[in-house]
Amino acid sequence: MLAPPLFVPPRPEPPATAPHGREFLRLVRTNALRMWPVQAYEQDAYQQGLFGLKWTLLNDPEAIHHVLVENAAGYRRTAATIRVLRPIVGNGLLLSEGETWKHQRRTIAPALAPRVLPVLARHIAAAAREAVKALAAQPDQPLPIVLAMQQLALDIAGRSMFSLATRAFGAEMRGLITWFGMNLAGPRLLDMALPIWMPSPRDFRRRRFQARWMAFIDRIIAARLAEPPAAQPRDLFDLLRAARDPETGAAFAPAQLRDQVATMIVAGHETTATTLFWSLYLLAADTAEQARLAAEVRGVDLGPDAAWDAIARLPRTRAVVNEALRLYPPAFTIVRQAIARDRAGATDIPRGGIVMISPWVLHRHRRLWRDPDAFDPARFLPEAPQPARFAYLPFGAGPRVCVGAQFALTEAAIVLATLVQAFDIVLDDLEPVLPVGVVTLQPNRLTTFRLRPRAGQPGRGAGRELAADAHPSAA
Ligand code: HEM
Repeated sequence: MLAPPLFVPPRPEPPATAPHGREFLRLVRTNALRMWPVQAYEQDAYQQGLFGLKWTLLNDPEAIHHVLVENAAGYRRTAATIRVLRPIVGNGLLLSEGETWKHQRRTIAPALAPRVLPVLARHIAAAAREAVKALAAQPDQPLPIVLAMQQLALDIAGRSMFSLATRAFGAEMRGLITWFGMNLAGPRLLDMALPIWMPSPRDFRRRRFQARWMAFIDRIIAARLAEPPAAQPRDLFDLLRAARDPETGAAFAPAQLRDQVATMIVAGHETTATTLFWSLYLLAADTAEQARLAAEVRGVDLGPDAAWDAIARLPRTRAVVNEALRLYPPAFTIVRQAIARDRAGATDIPRGGIVMISPWVLHRHRRLWRDPDAFDPARFLPEAPQPARFAYLPFGAGPRVCVGAQFALTEAAIVLATLVQAFDIVLDDLEPVLPVGVVTLQPNRLTTFRLRPRAGQPGRGAGRELAADAHPSAA
């Protein structure tokens, strides 16, 4: 018997020819996914000259390995990346370079290491359970699910990294991040053309935003410092405060600590919220896959004490998360600038050349994937062949690989399993939802879903059971 056809989610059509000049700039600002023409999805490398610089998109896994791993020190972040991200993450781990970066990475990585994950999983499971309770209190209502996922991911980041309930400041934080994304995040020509030491016209507005945003982060830190001190570090914040430079013995100065807090909150919740949204979208559209997932999670204890152990028994859930990250990688482009002339695979990179590794293009590359645009979680099941090395990079690779990757995967699996266990997830309208690339991969509209309590779920996280003790203030 023939296998049923795979679900192919809608995607923005790539242009037939490469956009140039003003059109290129408009797309970088409004939807960077449309920058790449059809042939970019078929070739090993795609080069074009723009604004006096050579831009190279690399799809050849060996060449990518060279840039991100082998010769990582030969590349740096671009002026445009720094301009766009600095107002919101300061000089924290994401943007620091050289010795400062090494010290920060050594300090922060242990707080997100595999041995810490069981503790983080508890926070995640508790937050997911509360979210289900709140959602079950208003069943079958049209729900802008992306907003619900942003709120939940922020709540998880606040609890697990800073032991703080985000209720008091969540709305203001989302407001500031959204405003920045809509008004100042899209780079303009001068943001790309001017060296970083020379302010671009928009940098002045960005600085004003940064002052406002960092004052807000200071208020969060003040709230955290008002908590009674603990004998042992209880979260990432305590570890950051206790950290000392192995050579000088110096602690993070208050401004450095604030930049790390901003980095972890921003890098750690927007991306995970997006992953959850796209996973739910795919499952709502592909009801057969949702039924398979519901069968996998039926009766599984996903409470705070059990969630960590449960993940090992949820291969299909993990595969759905991995496949959502393939089709909709939140960090859709990794950009570097060559410090000196280089050769990546068969491609010459001039000094100062811009190198782009786009998980969006790479994950849909015609030669690297079978049915590249189709939703097929089975390709990530344990018994399936591994994807080609350096063809699947949702978290980047090399020394600057995402420090929160395991945390993000744990969070996505627990939240997804908890939601599917409790609810039948239904699309409220059948209009296609398309990804838009601005900072992260967002949906093009605030689509609504309906969450219907799943019938016959005896599991401890089930919606019906939780609805019974739900209270409207639980949100
Ligand atoms: C699905 C969720 C996530 C995705 C897709 C993602 C993706 C990425 C990618 C692609 C990079 C590498 C960027 C580059 O090489 O230029 C990165 C770096 C980073 N990520 Fe994530 N991330 C996620 C979740 C998180 C979480 C949960 C945290 C924090 C708890 C986090 C913190 C960071 C930091 C601090 C860096 C910079 C690391 C460095 O430069 O040393 N991310 N992330």
